[in-house]
Amino acid sequence: MAFPLPCVYSDGSRYLKAYEYFHKCSGEHQGMVDFFNNHLPDIMSSAINDNSVQNVLGFGCGSGPLDLEMFSAIHRMYPKVTVDYEVVDPTVQFINQYKDLLSKTSGFDYIKWNWTQLTVQEFEKENKERTKKADMIHLFQSLYYVKEPGPLVNFLQSLLSKNGKLLISLISGNCGWAQLEKKYFKEISDWDACCSFSDDIRRYLDANGQRYQTYVVPCQIDVTECFIEGDENGGLLLDFLTEVLNFDQTATPELRAGVLELFRDSKNSVESNGRIMLGSEYEVIAVDQLI
Ligand SMILES: C[S@@+](CC[C@H](N)C(=O)[O-])C[C@H]1O[C@@H](n2cnc3c(N)ncnc32)[C@H](O)[C@@H]1O
Repeated sequence: MAFPLPCVYSDGSRYLKAYEYFHKCSGEHQGMVDFFNNHLPDIMSSAINDNSVQNVLGFGCGSGPLDLEMFSAIHRMYPKVTVDYEVVDPTVQFINQYKDLLSKTSGFDYIKWNWTQLTVQEFEKENKERTKKADMIHLFQSLYYVKEPGPLVNFLQSLLSKNGKLLISLISGNCGWAQLEKKYFKEISDWDACCSFSDDIRRYLDANGQRYQTYVVPCQIDVTECFIEGDENGGLLLDFLTEVLNFDQTATPELRAGVLELFRDSKNSVESNGRIMLGSEYEVIAVDQLI
């Protein structure tokens, strides 16, 4: 096996499948929905004016289900608000899946959708002079892929309207899944990116005197299938969690054993009803306009 290994992100179709299977095994989606219902309307209250159009920018929106939950939570609280929404995502498979989901879903007529196929870094390059302000900008699980997230966060803050909010969710550095990234990411991935945790963003914001609030979203990932050699779903989940394309085929037995040992370590997971549940804690950081 030659290091580094190819990244799962290099194959959009495989990445989409891996992400969809991850969703089935992880409590992340429900945790984020609870966050939307319990906190988001309050967080957005200063930025939202009844009857006005809200400009929203979303980066790395995936295939859309989380976005729809987010808008539903806002709409329940602010039913008169209409939204001008720009979805920015580099993966054509995700954008197509998102459009497909919308074509089968009703109740979102108050949103005008715009689609841009770009990474957030490319968006920054193309929008240095942008004057249109956003009342909300979000990056849910999509800032991992950015090498130097700090200056980019400042750029996005500069696009916020006066009371606008930039919402970033990332896993926190002390959870079980983060230990996998910390131990193996640099060693095994050929990906020209880094893996940031919520702690890194908070540290950057603190060092720059920026204002923000944080919300913790605890959840678990059922990694039981990863232990069944040759299991198709376990392979998909391993691809998503290690970010390596076809991890099952490309990793050495030693690397595979090391990853599974880390999953089994009681510091990182719990065993419950015969299932192995990897700890995974998300943190949502709600950042104010650039000071
Ligand atoms: C793990 S998925 C998260 C999807 C969705 N936000 C959610 O939380 O369910 C990561 C998303 O980020 C997108 N992505 C990958 N690299 C990106 C980049 N550099 N800029 C913006 N989005 C990126 C992927 O295409 C994918 O849609």
